[in-house]
Amino acid sequence: MRLRYCDSYEETGVLGASCFMEVIRNRPNALVCTATGSSPTGLYRRLAMERDKDPRLFSNLRVIPLDEWVGLPSGDEGSCGTYIRRHITGPLHITSNRYFPFDPTTSALETETSRIRDVLQAQGPIDICILGLGKNGHLGFNEPDEALIPHCHVAQLSPASMKHAMVSGALDKPRRGLTLGIADILASKTIILLISGEGKQETVKRFLQPEITTRLPASFLWLHPNTYCFIDRASLR
Ligand code: GLP
Repeated sequence: MRLRYCDSYEETGVLGASCFMEVIRNRPNALVCTATGSSPTGLYRRLAMERDKDPRLFSNLRVIPLDEWVGLPSGDEGSCGTYIRRHITGPLHITSNRYFPFDPTTSALETETSRIRDVLQAQGPIDICILGLGKNGHLGFNEPDEALIPHCHVAQLSPASMKHAMVSGALDKPRRGLTLGIADILASKTIILLISGEGKQETVKRFLQPEITTRLPASFLWLHPNTYCFIDRASLR
């Protein structure tokens, strides 16, 4: 893992975006897996600035979300779909034929996970996976547990995830999430992990030990041969 300590949140976005651009230069039709939440927003902002300079830059890029809250309609303020439209597919002009969202309102969740597994089979592997670190060490909705599930699945959310800022305004708090699995993440050619935000000090210290354990799903990234990790020093204090 290539670790880089950053002096600000802004810097995590700048360095993360330049790492991203390096990959895209050689692979303009890359499949990108996109986390939501606050950690990667600065990176996406930088990509939007790059696109403004060169409107053709992302005209072949493909996007698959990392996760989604079950039950939130895609127009809901807190949904990953809304976030992705606002920060990624909108500003980067990703057309609908190059975007593969989850359907969070379907009653057939198992069918939905196998549909996404098929999408990944057809479109994958993921070229760049952009991740944030959850307060409890989760990746997407791969929550700390005795065992992890390798591929796309429905996850029971941890209390920490249910308190995430994205769903703080939801009247009916999601209890489950749709997520790519840990093996899908580890099959990515390049991983960019952004670490920032309050209340993560202990988790970041455990992550840096490093010791691989299902109790800290992000620790599995130490097994990946091409992961870049940008840590905002403030998250350690
Ligand atoms: C959320 C999302 C993840 C996100 C993580 C960290 O629950 N499901 O995709 O990466 O938690 O969020 P943040 O960057 O806001 O701390």
